[in-house]
Amino acid sequence: MHKWFQLPIIEGLSSKQAHCDLPHDSFERECGREGFYGPATHMYHQHPPTGWLSWQGNHKPRAFDALALPQSGNTPWDAPLLLSNADLKLRLWQTSKNMDHLVRNGDGDELLFIHQGRGDLYCDFGHLSFSEGDYIVIPRSTSWRIETTSHVSLLMIEATNNSYRNVDRGIVGEHAIYDPAILEYPTINAAFKAQQTEESWQLLLKARNQINVIGYPFNPLDAIGWKGAVTVLKLNWRDIRPLMSHRYHLPPSAHSTFSANNFVVCTFVPRPTESDPHALKVPFFHSNNDYDEVIFYHQGDFFSRDNIKPGMITFHPCGFPHGPHPKALKSSQQKPKPFTDEVAVMIDSRNPLDIGSNIDKVELHDYVHSWRDTTHNNHNE
Ligand SMILES: [Fe+2]
Repeated sequence: MHKWFQLPIIEGLSSKQAHCDLPHDSFERECGREGFYGPATHMYHQHPPTGWLSWQGNHKPRAFDALALPQSGNTPWDAPLLLSNADLKLRLWQTSKNMDHLVRNGDGDELLFIHQGRGDLYCDFGHLSFSEGDYIVIPRSTSWRIETTSHVSLLMIEATNNSYRNVDRGIVGEHAIYDPAILEYPTINAAFKAQQTEESWQLLLKARNQINVIGYPFNPLDAIGWKGAVTVLKLNWRDIRPLMSHRYHLPPSAHSTFSANNFVVCTFVPRPTESDPHALKVPFFHSNNDYDEVIFYHQGDFFSRDNIKPGMITFHPCGFPHGPHPKALKSSQQKPKPFTDEVAVMIDSRNPLDIGSNIDKVELHDYVHSWRDTTHNNHNE
């Protein structure tokens, strides 16, 4: 049995409420444990916590232009690995072709996020069309394939030896953020029945991270019906109605969308900016001391970052603070936008992530220096 030390200490100059009423000319840094769920201390600094001038070593903030990664084939198992550990595997797959085979992930649930394009998913449970902005949760060992009607790029997030679940809605109840009734699932419709032929099909089973090729003399997607609670589910980010507060900058965990052991997937969607003059209006500087943080930028103006475009990924391993870029911080203080229109997918991983072998080829090597303040006047008002 163990529990955290929990005693609120105030030392020196401090606000009594996080992210509001900062001491004059100070920069707040949240030092948190267990993501945004555990105990934390809010530090008030005289300089931006990201104000380093130089950095030697590889454990640093990194950014990658994931869409620029070369793709090698028309099976999702060819998709280059971006980041991984024992709990998850993040890949980005781009294709313009219909799959001529089925795949099945025996290693864990798969979460797809459609960054670009549209098409049709055929799986054990039936047919489901998809388009940009859809999440698709595929339970472990489901057989599936896609047909594309345009170039498709999608994130694949494997919950290794694990499963995706809904997040605990806590005091806001089961219908906040999105009502489960909005989730779509595959149906045994005319399109599904039309592909049920006696032609031979191959299935690429990924198990123990190795590919097995299984041949059938018929199409194994031959179900005539099913009953139960295990199926493929689809959610578009446009159906997420985000929690917000006009007086308090909510932490990223308020935007949690899917949960698995040791990591969580959050979605940042358009919302009004905080209107209270004393509240922070950009993400607060934080040392998320136990989690590695990955953000995939989908669309919109990424309001806390400079020089980030759709399709990029930032990776902030734990061990140092990150936060808004100087220009974004300054404009949030002087002339805050009334609305943020960014759409991004965040993965917060409890265990350290490793970088894929080829991803360094699309790295933006100057990202570690992107917090350099060239304005020399970015103190809080
Ligand atoms: Fe963060």
